[in-house]
Amino acid sequence: MTNTRVRKAVIPAAGLGTRFLPATKAMPKEMLPIVDIPTLQYIVEEAAASGIEEILIITNSNKRSMEDHFDRNYELEERLKSSGKHDLEEMIRKISDMANIYYVRQKEPKGLGHAIWCARTFVGEEPFAVLLGDDLVVNEGGEPALKQLIGAYCEKKASVVGVQSVPHEDVGKYGIVEPLDKNYGDSRRIKLSGIVEKPLIEQSPSDLAVLGRYVLTPEIFKFLETQGAGKNGEIQLTDAILRLMDIQTVYAYKFEGIRYDVGDKFGFVKATIDFALQRDELRGELSGYIKKLAEEL
Ligand code: G1P
Repeated sequence: MTNTRVRKAVIPAAGLGTRFLPATKAMPKEMLPIVDIPTLQYIVEEAAASGIEEILIITNSNKRSMEDHFDRNYELEERLKSSGKHDLEEMIRKISDMANIYYVRQKEPKGLGHAIWCARTFVGEEPFAVLLGDDLVVNEGGEPALKQLIGAYCEKKASVVGVQSVPHEDVGKYGIVEPLDKNYGDSRRIKLSGIVEKPLIEQSPSDLAVLGRYVLTPEIFKFLETQGAGKNGEIQLTDAILRLMDIQTVYAYKFEGIRYDVGDKFGFVKATIDFALQRDELRGELSGYIKKLAEEL
């Protein structure tokens, strides 16, 4: 590894978004807005706020609007300027200044591990971050989730997966880590002895689930290259991380923050309500409406 600073991030965004059809028939699910900001923009903002300078988005053929969103739109900027809407003009321009964003197409939907493997040339010999667009994390007043993981990486110079405890009955939805020492107590950074993708409840090594944030060393690509299909017939990043443990220590980091699963309809609605309640211009009216609804339910 020639560089040990985490400057690059990979955001896989090549899923079909079938859970959000028909909205995702002609629009990538990553462009669905929570209030008025596309979910992908929240992810890019978190990366930029964590010190990431270069971002590679793994796309498929239906991702044109993502490229347009993070590009300049001179015509719109001009129109906003000439109508005196300077705040909006600045807001629109800032989106294209957040980071250098590149795109590569994943030609076949072969799973998360394969999507990350498509980033090997972009990443080169550096540690890098992975952020999954279905997981939004809000840590009001504290460090963004990815920044917390980068902090842990810097201390150990080892791969780190971001985790939080999930209800035991939900372990089958996630990658689940196996702590080396079961008595890890209150420590946030936990050395791992294993990791498994979507285990059966009775076989789950813990309730600590990987929630869409990773910092990985570039050695992961050696394993991704030869990784066969795993759970659900897909090439799983989790399986390659398990093999990485044969040659390097891997840690889990219990990050601080509230995580929303916006890949799930209910999670998406919850995020929409919570994010709207954080907005000065919406809070009063919305909380009045929610109270009224609650009385009628
Ligand atoms: C993916 C990963 C899984 C991780 C999850 C987090 O699964 O494969 O390990 O826990 O994201 O949201 P997916 O939800 O894409 O099936």
